[in-house]
Amino acid sequence: MNMKMKKVVALTMTAVMGLTLAACGGGNSSSQDAGTGNEGQDTPEASTSEPADNTADAGASSDVANKDKPLVWFNRQPSNSSTGELDMAALSFNDHTYYVGFDANQGAEVQGTMIKDYIEKNIDTIDRNGDGVIGYVLAIGDIGHNDSIARTRGVRKALGTGVDKDGDINSEPVGTNVDGSTSAVQDGTIEVNGKTYTVRELASQEMKNSAGATWDAATAGNAIGTWSSSFGDQIDIVASNNDGMGMSMFNAWSKDNTVPTFGYDANSDAVAAIAEGYGGTISQHADVQAYLTLRVLRNALDGVDVDTGIGTADDAGNVLSDDVYMYNEDERSYYALNVAVTADNYQDFTDSTKIYEPVSAQLDESAHPAKKVWLNIYNASDNFLSSTYQPLLQNYDDLLNLDIEYIGGDGQTESNITNRLGNPGQYDAFAINMVKTDNAASYTSLLSQ
Ligand code: BGC
Repeated sequence: MNMKMKKVVALTMTAVMGLTLAACGGGNSSSQDAGTGNEGQDTPEASTSEPADNTADAGASSDVANKDKPLVWFNRQPSNSSTGELDMAALSFNDHTYYVGFDANQGAEVQGTMIKDYIEKNIDTIDRNGDGVIGYVLAIGDIGHNDSIARTRGVRKALGTGVDKDGDINSEPVGTNVDGSTSAVQDGTIEVNGKTYTVRELASQEMKNSAGATWDAATAGNAIGTWSSSFGDQIDIVASNNDGMGMSMFNAWSKDNTVPTFGYDANSDAVAAIAEGYGGTISQHADVQAYLTLRVLRNALDGVDVDTGIGTADDAGNVLSDDVYMYNEDERSYYALNVAVTADNYQDFTDSTKIYEPVSAQLDESAHPAKKVWLNIYNASDNFLSSTYQPLLQNYDDLLNLDIEYIGGDGQTESNITNRLGNPGQYDAFAINMVKTDNAASYTSLLSQ
């Protein structure tokens, strides 16, 4: 399924373009520090980078119309937040438009299986109150986000708690279901050594704060407080759609109560917590995703085949193997593959911001001249995007000679971000992480003007 197209005229073209563009392009390839780490959600301005220093009034290094410039959507795939249907108009906005994310279904299955394996291995001790029911609670990130939906389904599928809705597993939050009577889930069963155990989703909730930010870690920390105070002895497992929420619940309650907690993203803090009882997480190969996000832009800017430095080695030797990503041409989407990170292998994942070695070679600036990119993160406080993804992007932007302006949103409104795309003519390419997956047109309309 990977494209194995060869770059043909590409090399010659690159050389010619390199000479032309190096002559007129700004030489600045230093990336800006966006500082999107721990700022509060109320001060999005604080997370915006300064305009690129010596290039503030210099335009993009070409006269390409904004609507024809390379565009990559990442981490939030343009799609209908109710049906999940892909927004193909946004995904094929122009010939240089792609999506980069990870394989949500494969990852969801890996997460569900990881939790099930843990239960099976620890069957003698898992049922803390000995009531014969293995109870879990689930933190849901965003009920309208395909990745979140897939993860909820993956857990329910593996544990047998899912019920069918319109031909797929129902992914709705149940609120509380301590007595097992809710119809959105069912009691599942797990068989170990010939014995059958009941598994129950005791509670689940979308972790959205009052201002509207989803995947909200603080909300998850509060939820586990509420849940544990009313039925804490029944909670044997904590599951979460991501590590941000998972770690918040771990720190608030499950660590002290030695309740295994499972997340997703393999952020460095979560991986480190495995040594302290965090049950496990999933690496969605953010190192590969961050590379692909910038690489598809680089290739379009260089006028070479999109597979360059991806399935086909580039002139510096960068290349990815089939076991870490796949490309779906119909969806114009690159998907990184997922790996479970547990007590068995977490030592290999301790630094989530480390670039992926097979694609770590610096591009030569004469053949791949500096270009200006506008890139936004939907929520400067999102744990995964700020602590893992953006640092990775910042490592790769230098290697790929991209001069990136990083914009951090508030996670609540698209306009908070689009307001800062006032002058798209200043940039050569765009990388977009929407607040809501339905909202691609808020960006493309600005580029079409
Ligand atoms: C990540 C989450 C993150 C979300 C935001 C997901 O891919 O796994 O941790 O919060 O994206 O869009």
